[in-house]
Amino acid sequence: MNLPLRIAIDGPAASGKSTLAERLAKALGYLYFDTGVMYRAVTWAALQRGYAVEDADKLTELAANLDIDVRPPSTDDGRKYDVLVNGEDVTWAIRTPEVDANVSIVAAHPGVRAALTDKQRAIGRRGKVVMVGRDIGTVVMPDAELKIYLDASPEERARRRYQERLARGEQADYAQILAAVRARDRLDKGREVAPLRAADDAVILNSDGLSIGEVFEEALRLVKAMDC
Ligand code: CDP
Repeated sequence: MNLPLRIAIDGPAASGKSTLAERLAKALGYLYFDTGVMYRAVTWAALQRGYAVEDADKLTELAANLDIDVRPPSTDDGRKYDVLVNGEDVTWAIRTPEVDANVSIVAAHPGVRAALTDKQRAIGRRGKVVMVGRDIGTVVMPDAELKIYLDASPEERARRRYQERLARGEQADYAQILAAVRARDRLDKGREVAPLRAADDAVILNSDGLSIGEVFEEALRLVKAMDC
């Protein structure tokens, strides 16, 4: 049986993409690559430097020059990987509500997207990869052998994000998280360049009411059903 070499998983915030991709990659022995980390890293760096997130020129230059590295986890604190920006560990710093609130503005700049898309395509070309994001099936790897668009209702997604924050010992407010999820959906789906949408040839999975295990089984069935 020939497995799909490249698997693209797209979908809105907190739809369960990362968890699904990580499990699939592990089961298949593929690289798991979460492109959201790159947009978050640029956002974090811009906030650190006091740049206005609306400043397209500054943000584009930053995205082109920033050294973003993802490595196996160095600490056993619940992280799946280390994220380093110019050598600094920002694994948790890129997950704050402040980064959440600004990342979709940063990700809408065409210059930022061009710089990061180049880096993502280089990783995709090596194959044996499960890549996660918003535009993987449509823009980054339009020739991926399997494309999955993972959806869920805003309420279900906000509930998951809320539980994640509590599990990390952070404070969380469900209503605020729901509003933030909705705002990010609006920006991601409405932007001009590479908006969030399912590729025409993507399989759409809705994870409302499904456990992580059930979504994983369904995705694995799709992988095994492929004959490429
Ligand atoms: O984990 P979550 O789904 O909340 O978000 P993420 O995958 O870490 O992505 C954060 C943000 O980066 C998204 O809301 C998008 O604005 C942007 N992004 C993007 O535009 N294109 C991608 N391929 C990945 C992320």
